[in-house]
Amino acid sequence: MWFMRQAGRSLPEYLKVREGVPMLQACATPDLIVEITMQPVRRYGVDAAIFFSDIVVPLKAIGIDLDIKPGVGPVVADPIRDAAGLETLRPLEPGDVPYVTEAIGALAGELGATPLIGFAGAPFTLASYLIEGGPSKNHDRTKAMMYGEPKLWHALMDRLTGIVLEHLRIQIRAGASAVQLFDSWVGAVSAADYREFILPHTSRIFAGVPEVPRIHFGVGTGELLGVLGEAGADVVGVDWRVPLDEAARRVGPGRALQGNLDPAILLAPWDVVETRALDVLRRGRAAEGHIFNLGHGVLPSTDPDQLKRLTELVHSA
Ligand code: CP3
Repeated sequence: MWFMRQAGRSLPEYLKVREGVPMLQACATPDLIVEITMQPVRRYGVDAAIFFSDIVVPLKAIGIDLDIKPGVGPVVADPIRDAAGLETLRPLEPGDVPYVTEAIGALAGELGATPLIGFAGAPFTLASYLIEGGPSKNHDRTKAMMYGEPKLWHALMDRLTGIVLEHLRIQIRAGASAVQLFDSWVGAVSAADYREFILPHTSRIFAGVPEVPRIHFGVGTGELLGVLGEAGADVVGVDWRVPLDEAARRVGPGRALQGNLDPAILLAPWDVVETRALDVLRRGRAAEGHIFNLGHGVLPSTDPDQLKRLTELVHSA
């Protein structure tokens, strides 16, 4: 078990070390990366660490002018909307992210037997930030390109796939023991459109990192679980909208599941958390393997003591 976004936002010790340090600066400072990655492992005793970084870090590293605005998310100065914009996306090289390699090397020593999960944003979710210029509710311009200019769309996805794949390989070579692909906003498309516009690219990513366990996660993906399972990951992440026994049926054989307690449940009294968490564990037995997690990231207002008790509960169940 581990928690998505366990490394940030809700922990007082995180807020303390981040004081006065912009998010992207923190992501480029090895000492801070190591400290923040270790914080939830120390406090909760979770079974895995997640590398402290952000999905836009490799884009920033190849020169895309972007920032992470507190309370907003990633904001891109010159959104990519045509063939000329596409040219600004050059391939990623290990020398672009020396702080990633350095921090992972240091973490290997600190973590001992606890595995480190490396990660990247998936091409669709990254494309949405790049095309919209920031967070988007409907992904209008993203879908306009996908449906209206499929050649340009696939060329953009292809470049992003190359960047994502290299970023994962850099993390694996440095010592990451598993990887997760975050396609947080992919729930916005239908299964048929996923198959046509996204699956060729995510399949290439998973096929390119066969040496470690691979987790594939998205939000609002109830209708996509089958096709997400086909993309080639070992584990499919499920949000809280579909119970895990039903998710196991939709994903099909040969895949484990990750999830799926609603992060908002942690804002309720402990007895509610306990009942719901035990239900997640019970339904998870229907899957071929189960990594306990939340259905999405820890909410900033979460009391860390609830996560501590939850970790103990899952470990004792
Ligand atoms: O699990 C972890 O804590 C590891 C680190 C991690 C962060 N971002 C740190 C972060 C991971 C795995 C991510 C991935 C990420 N970033 C995703 C996919 C995961 C998901 O939750 O769906 C997405 C969509 C992003 C883009 C992004 N970056 C958003 C939407 C935000 C939130 C903006 C806000 O302030 O509400 C960020 C910033 C961000 N990334 C923070 C952290 C800890 C908060 C910034 C801060 O603490 O100043």
